[in-house]
Amino acid sequence: MKALVLAGGKGTRLRPLTHTSAKQLVPVANKPVLFYGLEAIRAAGITSVGIVVGDTGAEVREAVGDGSRFGLEVTYIPQDAPLGLAHCVLIARDFLGDEPFVMYLGDNFLIGGIADLVDAFGAAGHDAQILLTKVAEPQFYGVAELGPDGQILRLEEKPANPRSDLAIVGVYTFSPAIHEAVRSIEPSARGELEITDAIKWLIDHGYSVHSHFVSGYWKDTGRLQDMLECNRIVLEAIRPDIRGSVDGASEISGNVVVEAGASVEGSVIRGPAVIGAHTVIRDSYVGPYTSIGESCLIRDSEVEYAIVLRDSSITGISRLTYSLIGRNVEVTRAQGMPNACQLMVGDHSKVQVRA
Ligand code: DAU
Repeated sequence: MKALVLAGGKGTRLRPLTHTSAKQLVPVANKPVLFYGLEAIRAAGITSVGIVVGDTGAEVREAVGDGSRFGLEVTYIPQDAPLGLAHCVLIARDFLGDEPFVMYLGDNFLIGGIADLVDAFGAAGHDAQILLTKVAEPQFYGVAELGPDGQILRLEEKPANPRSDLAIVGVYTFSPAIHEAVRSIEPSARGELEITDAIKWLIDHGYSVHSHFVSGYWKDTGRLQDMLECNRIVLEAIRPDIRGSVDGASEISGNVVVEAGASVEGSVIRGPAVIGAHTVIRDSYVGPYTSIGESCLIRDSEVEYAIVLRDSSITGISRLTYSLIGRNVEVTRAQGMPNACQLMVGDHSKVQVRA
């Protein structure tokens, strides 16, 4: 069994972060989303992994390397343009050969791993297995309609009027039958070769396609609120670990990780929270569900329910909440008159100011 991980694509919903960096590398509890998937693949006993990369390929390669630190052997498969999930299977043909494989969308976050799923697929001998879960807004996903016996009646990609609330989760298992399917389908209205259409093709041509319900937590991390929620879920399970320094004037409560080289001075940290390596928290409050990346500075500020990426600074701000701050960002308090906000914000950003 091999794995095909999809780490190309556009990342339009997480702009401006994804103008310059891969959406699969946005960190959850200071670890890129993609790494959780790679770890789950290894835990399922799979070692041979193809990673499809696009414009942000260099960054993904730098982060994952040859895969050895995950116990994986990684082959990179460059995709010239994001032409769809089924297009990824098409260009991975040589890598996949005639082996069954699990396809894992690099921006999907699944708690509980994929070992059961991979084992079930191996034992049952189906041609495809999809995972389903109930969601509140099915129109943003591939949607399945099931019959009374659980058989798949219909699959639709992002339907305007969904016929069920069952979303297709971004982890699929396939037999080599999928190769004929991806060669046979046509691009959708949005110009992509849809994996949903390829699976539909399998069903229409008499192949066995099985669906499973996801038992654990799942999120597509494509949007801000989903990132923040994944961060919350992972932080809820962290164990306290103080490797950096915390001075006597600081107070730490709840589950807090302070990574090596970080320094907490005259501050209050209420977990769950993670403070990245070489970050300084000075005269500040860091509240629950916050992940501060490495080499940041939080000074005279209050931050909670937030993700702050590496090399950023927040000074003189009370209080920042429900926020995702990119790399190398400066957030400071305006001095003097006029009593106004001064912003230099990238394209496609969202800023909410309490005037
Ligand atoms: O997250 C689950 C959903 O994922 C499913 O419910 C949908 O049926 C499925 O089509 C997919 O929808 P998205 O619109 O969320 O897919 P997205 O464009 O975000 O791409 C998913 C991952 O695959 C992401 O890590 C980027 C990567 N990708 C995407 C495309 C279109 C590629 O590597 N190459 C591509 O051409």
